[in-house]
Amino acid sequence: MAEVNPAFIQSIEHRPKNPTIIEAEEIPVIDISSITSLDHLSNNNIIDDIITNIGNASEKWGFFQVINHGIRHEKLENMKLAARKFFSLAVEEKKNVAKDEDNPMGYHDTELTKNVRDWKQVFDYTTKDGCTPIPVSPDDLQAVKPVTNRWPQHPPEFREVAEEYAKEVEKLASIMLELIARSLGLAGNRFSELFKDQTTSFIRLNYYPPCPSPHLALGVGRHKDAGGLTILAQDDDVEGLEVRRKTDGEWIRVKPIHGALIINVGDLIQVWSNDKYESVEHRVIVNSEKDRLSIVFFYNPAHYVTVKPLEELINDQNVAKYKEFNWGAFLMTRKNTNFKKLNVENLQISHYKI
Ligand code: OGA
Ligand code: NI
Repeated sequence: MAEVNPAFIQSIEHRPKNPTIIEAEEIPVIDISSITSLDHLSNNNIIDDIITNIGNASEKWGFFQVINHGIRHEKLENMKLAARKFFSLAVEEKKNVAKDEDNPMGYHDTELTKNVRDWKQVFDYTTKDGCTPIPVSPDDLQAVKPVTNRWPQHPPEFREVAEEYAKEVEKLASIMLELIARSLGLAGNRFSELFKDQTTSFIRLNYYPPCPSPHLALGVGRHKDAGGLTILAQDDDVEGLEVRRKTDGEWIRVKPIHGALIINVGDLIQVWSNDKYESVEHRVIVNSEKDRLSIVFFYNPAHYVTVKPLEELINDQNVAKYKEFNWGAFLMTRKNTNFKKLNVENLQISHYKI
């Protein structure tokens, strides 16, 4: 087993000596079984209750879990199995689909790249192959070229399973965004135009190997998700995701619930809602015995979308808290600083605060 890189230890954030583990019954679990498709979003009481619960959870936590979400059990299990098979391959084989500066899709190993921040391996793919734009040059973020997915040869079913899961999770994401729009008092289709072209959404498979010194490392350090909405599937029996509770800043472990999906609002919903629904910090703890897997869908608008607080929510009492910005340029600037490890502060929505 690899040692924890000493640079990692120095860079790690403060960890309490006796972390209070508060089980996360408090993070709301919402049953959305009465919503199976967009056609059924009629105005009945059950759906109104679901929308109210989603609104309350988004405001109070920025996170919630959904059960009976309509993604078929076998699609989710197949995806987890294929991901596990892929990550269990020899490093040499995984390196055949390694991401690089030209194309950020594929495999990434923090050991290989000496990324001292996170104790994990990832595999990224876009949901619409050939669509995700990246800038042709760092000097002109508007001129973009598409990137294509890299598919491993093993396991042979990987590509099909991954593409099937992408279809299902994208459907769910658009339903969730419709419910979130309604919870803000907006028309259900308020975000449809902005998400109509799926050019920047992607799926990240995260694999966290056992860590010899789990108290010195983090699977993913504290961060907020930059995009629209995140839908995460975690292992049934290996927990690790922690969410920062807004009321007191305490780290709350998200308890695995069989078949549930974890949903959180990203930075863009924070801006659109003018801070009503804040994008909340989260991180991943590792352990010395068990590896852990998560499958994360980042649901993002098209790269050309201009983001700013929604006019319907702005008035004299609630003035816009952000200047407008272009999502594609924002995303590419962040990716560039991440990849090149430029010694500059990562671009954040707070840079656009008025
Ligand atoms: C992420 C993330 C959490 C997890 O990939 O952005 O927060 O449980 N992952 O893997
Ligand atoms: Ni995250």
